[in-house]
Amino acid sequence: MKPGRLAFVIALPFGLVLAASAAVRAGQVAIPGVHDAYQARTDYQLKCQGCHRPDGSGDDRSNPPMRSIVARFLSVPGGREFIGRVPGVATVDLPDDRLANLVNWTIFRFDPAHVPPNFRPYTAEEVGRLRKNPLRLERAAMRARLVAGFAKTHGEQSQ
Ligand code: HEC
Repeated sequence: MKPGRLAFVIALPFGLVLAASAAVRAGQVAIPGVHDAYQARTDYQLKCQGCHRPDGSGDDRSNPPMRSIVARFLSVPGGREFIGRVPGVATVDLPDDRLANLVNWTIFRFDPAHVPPNFRPYTAEEVGRLRKNPLRLERAAMRARLVAGFAKTHGEQSQ
Protein backbone atom coordinates (compact mmCIF):
# COMPACT_ATOMS: atom_id res chain seq x y z
CA MET A 1 0.00 0.00 0.00
CA LYS A 2 1.32 3.47 -0.85
CA PRO A 3 2.14 5.62 2.18
CA GLY A 4 -0.46 8.21 1.18
CA ARG A 5 -3.18 5.59 0.98
CA LEU A 6 -2.10 4.09 4.28
CA ALA A 7 -2.37 7.48 5.96
CA PHE A 8 -5.85 7.86 4.51
CA VAL A 9 -6.95 4.46 5.81
CA ILE A 10 -5.60 5.28 9.25
CA ALA A 11 -7.09 8.78 9.30
CA LEU A 12 -10.53 7.73 8.04
CA PRO A 13 -11.94 6.32 11.30
CA PHE A 14 -10.82 9.43 13.19
CA GLY A 15 -12.49 11.61 10.59
CA LEU A 16 -15.71 9.63 10.89
CA VAL A 17 -15.67 9.94 14.67
CA LEU A 18 -15.11 13.69 14.44
CA ALA A 19 -17.86 14.08 11.86
CA ALA A 20 -20.25 12.00 13.94
CA SER A 21 -19.63 13.95 17.12
CA ALA A 22 -20.03 17.24 15.24
CA ALA A 23 -23.33 15.96 13.85
CA VAL A 24 -24.54 14.98 17.30
CA ARG A 25 -23.63 18.37 18.70
CA ALA A 26 -25.16 20.23 15.79
CA GLY A 27 -28.18 17.96 15.62
CA GLN A 28 -29.01 18.15 19.30
CA VAL A 29 -30.49 21.60 19.12
CA ALA A 30 -30.96 23.74 16.06
CA ILE A 31 -31.45 27.15 17.65
CA PRO A 32 -31.36 30.31 15.51
CA GLY A 33 -28.19 32.28 16.16
CA VAL A 34 -26.65 29.46 18.20
CA HIS A 35 -23.71 27.89 16.41
CA ASP A 36 -22.65 25.87 19.45
CA ALA A 37 -25.33 24.94 21.98
CA TYR A 38 -22.91 22.91 24.05
CA GLN A 39 -20.64 25.94 24.43
CA ALA A 40 -23.62 28.13 25.30
CA ARG A 41 -24.82 25.78 28.00
CA THR A 42 -21.34 25.61 29.51
CA ASP A 43 -20.98 29.39 29.38
CA TYR A 44 -24.38 29.78 31.04
CA GLN A 45 -23.32 27.40 33.81
CA LEU A 46 -20.08 29.24 34.40
CA LYS A 47 -21.13 32.85 33.91
CA CYS A 48 -24.86 33.23 34.49
CA GLN A 49 -26.52 30.55 36.54
CA GLY A 50 -24.99 31.64 39.85
CA CYS A 51 -27.47 34.52 39.71
CA HIS A 52 -30.18 33.36 37.32
CA ARG A 53 -30.16 29.73 38.57
CA PRO A 54 -29.65 26.60 36.47
CA ASP A 55 -33.32 26.46 35.47
CA GLY A 56 -33.52 30.21 34.82
CA SER A 57 -35.87 30.79 37.74
CA GLY A 58 -33.82 33.59 39.36
CA ASP A 59 -34.17 34.10 43.09
CA ASP A 60 -37.31 36.21 43.43
CA ARG A 61 -35.28 38.97 45.08
CA SER A 62 -32.33 40.57 43.36
CA ASN A 63 -31.84 38.33 40.32
CA PRO A 64 -34.67 38.18 37.83
CA PRO A 65 -35.96 34.97 36.26
CA MET A 66 -35.21 34.15 32.63
CA ARG A 67 -37.77 31.39 32.48
CA SER A 68 -41.01 32.24 30.69
CA ILE A 69 -40.20 35.95 30.60
CA VAL A 70 -36.84 36.91 29.12
CA ALA A 71 -37.99 36.94 25.48
CA ARG A 72 -40.79 39.38 26.32
CA PHE A 73 -38.19 42.14 26.35
CA LEU A 74 -37.82 41.60 22.60
CA SER A 75 -41.36 42.84 22.02
CA VAL A 76 -41.11 46.20 23.74
CA PRO A 77 -39.24 49.19 22.29
CA GLY A 78 -35.73 49.31 23.74
CA GLY A 79 -35.90 45.78 25.15
CA ARG A 80 -33.59 44.27 22.58
CA GLU A 81 -30.91 46.84 23.44
CA PHE A 82 -31.55 46.40 27.17
CA ILE A 83 -30.67 42.70 26.99
CA GLY A 84 -27.33 43.50 25.36
CA ARG A 85 -26.54 46.21 27.88
CA VAL A 86 -27.41 44.73 31.30
CA PRO A 87 -24.16 44.39 33.23
CA GLY A 88 -24.32 40.59 33.55
CA VAL A 89 -24.36 40.35 29.75
CA ALA A 90 -22.31 43.37 28.71
CA THR A 91 -19.39 42.91 31.07
CA VAL A 92 -18.98 39.13 31.00
CA ASP A 93 -15.49 38.01 30.02
CA LEU A 94 -16.47 36.30 26.79
CA PRO A 95 -15.71 37.40 23.23
CA ASP A 96 -18.56 38.88 21.20
CA ASP A 97 -19.30 35.76 19.12
CA ARG A 98 -19.54 33.53 22.17
CA LEU A 99 -21.71 36.10 23.91
CA ALA A 100 -24.12 36.31 20.96
CA ASN A 101 -24.24 32.50 20.93
CA LEU A 102 -25.01 32.53 24.66
CA VAL A 103 -27.65 35.29 24.57
CA ASN A 104 -29.54 33.64 21.69
CA TRP A 105 -29.37 30.31 23.51
CA THR A 106 -30.62 31.87 26.76
CA ILE A 107 -33.61 33.38 25.01
CA PHE A 108 -34.67 30.16 23.27
CA ARG A 109 -33.76 27.87 26.14
CA PHE A 110 -35.78 29.68 28.77
CA ASP A 111 -38.57 31.45 26.96
CA PRO A 112 -39.25 30.05 23.48
CA ALA A 113 -42.95 30.87 23.69
CA HIS A 114 -42.33 34.62 23.76
CA VAL A 115 -39.75 34.83 20.98
CA PRO A 116 -41.34 37.10 18.37
CA PRO A 117 -41.88 35.38 15.01
CA ASN A 118 -39.69 37.94 13.25
CA PHE A 119 -36.87 37.72 15.80
CA ARG A 120 -33.46 38.30 14.27
CA PRO A 121 -30.83 36.49 16.37
CA TYR A 122 -28.21 38.71 17.96
CA THR A 123 -24.99 38.79 15.98
CA ALA A 124 -21.49 39.20 17.35
CA GLU A 125 -21.42 42.63 15.76
CA GLU A 126 -24.63 43.79 17.49
CA VAL A 127 -23.69 42.40 20.88
CA GLY A 128 -20.24 43.96 20.52
CA ARG A 129 -21.82 47.34 19.85
CA LEU A 130 -24.37 47.16 22.70
CA ARG A 131 -21.96 45.96 25.33
CA LYS A 132 -19.71 49.00 24.75
CA ASN A 133 -22.39 50.97 26.54
CA PRO A 134 -23.27 48.94 29.66
CA LEU A 135 -26.18 50.10 31.79
CA ARG A 136 -25.38 51.46 35.19
CA LEU A 137 -27.70 52.87 37.85
CA GLU A 138 -30.37 53.77 35.31
CA ARG A 139 -31.05 50.11 34.64
CA ALA A 140 -33.63 49.55 37.39
CA ALA A 141 -35.87 52.36 36.14
CA MET A 142 -35.37 51.27 32.54
CA ARG A 143 -36.23 47.68 33.39
CA ALA A 144 -39.37 48.76 35.25
CA ARG A 145 -40.49 50.79 32.23
CA LEU A 146 -39.90 47.87 29.86
CA VAL A 147 -41.69 45.40 32.10
CA ALA A 148 -44.64 47.78 32.36
CA GLY A 149 -44.79 47.65 28.56
CA PHE A 150 -45.17 43.85 28.51
CA ALA A 151 -48.88 44.12 29.18
CA LYS A 152 -49.36 46.08 25.95
CA THR A 153 -47.48 43.72 23.65
CA HIS A 154 -48.84 41.00 21.45
CA GLY A 155 -45.57 39.39 20.47
CA GLU A 156 -44.31 41.91 17.91
CA GLN A 157 -40.64 42.72 17.92
CA SER A 158 -39.42 46.15 18.92
CA GLN A 159 -37.90 48.69 16.46
C1 HEC B 1 -24.14 38.91 39.57
C2 HEC B 1 -25.45 38.37 39.18
C3 HEC B 1 -25.71 38.20 37.69
C4 HEC B 1 -24.97 37.51 36.76
C5 HEC B 1 -23.66 36.74 36.98
C6 HEC B 1 -25.69 37.60 35.52
N1 HEC B 1 -26.82 38.34 35.67
FE1 HEC B 1 -28.21 38.68 34.26
N2 HEC B 1 -29.15 39.97 35.49
C7 HEC B 1 -28.84 40.17 36.83
C8 HEC B 1 -29.67 41.24 37.36
C9 HEC B 1 -29.66 41.77 38.79
C10 HEC B 1 -30.49 41.67 36.29
C11 HEC B 1 -31.54 42.80 36.29
C12 HEC B 1 -30.95 44.03 35.67
C13 HEC B 1 -29.84 44.59 36.51
O1 HEC B 1 -30.10 45.14 37.58
O2 HEC B 1 -28.67 44.41 36.10
C14 HEC B 1 -30.15 40.83 35.15
C15 HEC B 1 -30.75 40.95 33.91
C16 HEC B 1 -30.51 40.11 32.85
C17 HEC B 1 -31.22 40.10 31.59
C18 HEC B 1 -32.36 41.04 31.22
C19 HEC B 1 -33.69 40.45 31.64
C20 HEC B 1 -34.23 41.00 32.93
O3 HEC B 1 -35.18 40.40 33.43
O4 HEC B 1 -33.76 42.04 33.43
C21 HEC B 1 -30.69 39.13 30.82
C22 HEC B 1 -31.12 38.72 29.42
C23 HEC B 1 -29.62 38.54 31.56
N3 HEC B 1 -29.54 39.15 32.80
C24 HEC B 1 -28.84 37.52 31.09
C25 HEC B 1 -27.66 37.15 31.74
C26 HEC B 1 -26.68 36.28 31.13
C27 HEC B 1 -26.81 35.66 29.75
C28 HEC B 1 -25.67 36.16 32.03
C29 HEC B 1 -24.39 35.41 31.87
C30 HEC B 1 -23.52 35.85 30.80
C31 HEC B 1 -26.03 36.94 33.20
N4 HEC B 1 -27.23 37.53 32.98
C32 HEC B 1 -25.25 37.03 34.33
C33 HEC B 1 -27.88 39.49 37.54
C34 HEC B 1 -26.88 38.73 36.98
